[in-house]
Amino acid sequence: MNEPITCVVLAAGKGTRMKSQTHKVLHKVGGRSLLDHVLAGVEPLNPEQTIIVVGSGREQIEGAIKGRQGIKTALQEPQNGTGHAVQCAQAALEISAGVTLILYGDVPFVPTDISRALVEKAGVNAGPVVLGFEAHDPGSYGRLVLDQNGALSRIVEAKDANDAELAIRLCNSGIMAVPTALLFSLLEEVKNDNSAGEYYLTDIVEIAAAREIPCTVVTALENDVMGVNSRADLASAEAAFQTKRRTDMMAKGVTLYSPETTYFQWDTEISSDVDIEPNVIFGPNVRVERDVTIRAFSHLEGCTIKKGASVGPYARLRPGADIGPGVKIGNFVEVKNAALAAGAKASHLSYIGDADVGEGANIGAGTITCNYDGYFKLLFCRLKCL
Ligand code: UD1
Ligand code: CA
Repeated sequence: MNEPITCVVLAAGKGTRMKSQTHKVLHKVGGRSLLDHVLAGVEPLNPEQTIIVVGSGREQIEGAIKGRQGIKTALQEPQNGTGHAVQCAQAALEISAGVTLILYGDVPFVPTDISRALVEKAGVNAGPVVLGFEAHDPGSYGRLVLDQNGALSRIVEAKDANDAELAIRLCNSGIMAVPTALLFSLLEEVKNDNSAGEYYLTDIVEIAAAREIPCTVVTALENDVMGVNSRADLASAEAAFQTKRRTDMMAKGVTLYSPETTYFQWDTEISSDVDIEPNVIFGPNVRVERDVTIRAFSHLEGCTIKKGASVGPYARLRPGADIGPGVKIGNFVEVKNAALAAGAKASHLSYIGDADVGEGANIGAGTITCNYDGYFKLLFCRLKCL
């Protein structure tokens, strides 16, 4: 697709059900904020510009995106509905050609291929393309009303729907792509004469249909468009994320003895032929090379484990742990900001901090190295095998 792509991410809602000081879209799944999941999902489309519509808690979002190329915020105050939110993004646009993809900051897992399909179809049809899904429980979702030819004729909010419309299972995910100039022209006609007194983005479909502009639906799986409104939803999103990561890891040749007890982050990198025993937790920024064994109940973050090493059971690797090839880290060993060269061993009950351990060194049980005496950070330790 050669036309420029604009992404508008709606994130002005209060998210009161999270009961949190942290903005809803900055809550994390797999160690990455919901907002970053959304932005990463569309990154391969190379959007020309991305506008995040913010309201309450906007300083937090501005802080989170600071310094990122091509991403801006637009303020929506007060929050008068999804249509009004998109209108608020207009002033921040630098390009008004091409297609705009509207996303929700709290819907983190829309597959890139689906976003691409929406944008391409909107470009080809020169009309709105809405992402729909068959809801297990349609509840309060907007319903997609199709005409006899299967074209989308309007979207009705559950609050405004009659019984026949409520029986429709095809629901609105809220995500849609619309040629940019058309989008803002349609929004000018949206009114707030509905039960919520809001300007609904969804009304642009009926307005487009009245202008004889074709409106279409692309469908996704319900899981692809799962939204996060509460801590319970956050836990469901985390579970879905972990299931996917475990499946992907196994497909790449990683052995998980008990997949449901292994927790990954979005950035965990593991090579093939790595064996992971039950109850292992990966924190941020961990890289594991081939032929490594990570034994049960180990907790790893900010570390590199090189080829053929063995870690655990009950090991703790903290930021700056650099575990060399064939190294053995045994039970109840904590390593922080320390490099162990090839073949070194710390088999039992040790704290190895701020150290540089030479090739083949054997650290005896109960050894502690550290550079902090409670007041000062002291010299670096160097242990060599004689
Ligand atoms: C919206 C859709 C509904 C769809 C559902 C999917 C409309 C009118 N309805 O309903 O058809 O099934 O999403 O979840 O679009 N937001 C703002 N500013 C506002 C209002 C909302 O930025 O003034 C943002 C929220 O932060 C959120 C998203 O838009 O990310 C959706 O808002 P929400 O109030 O949850 O929409 P629903 O009423 O659930
Ligand atoms: Ca909602």
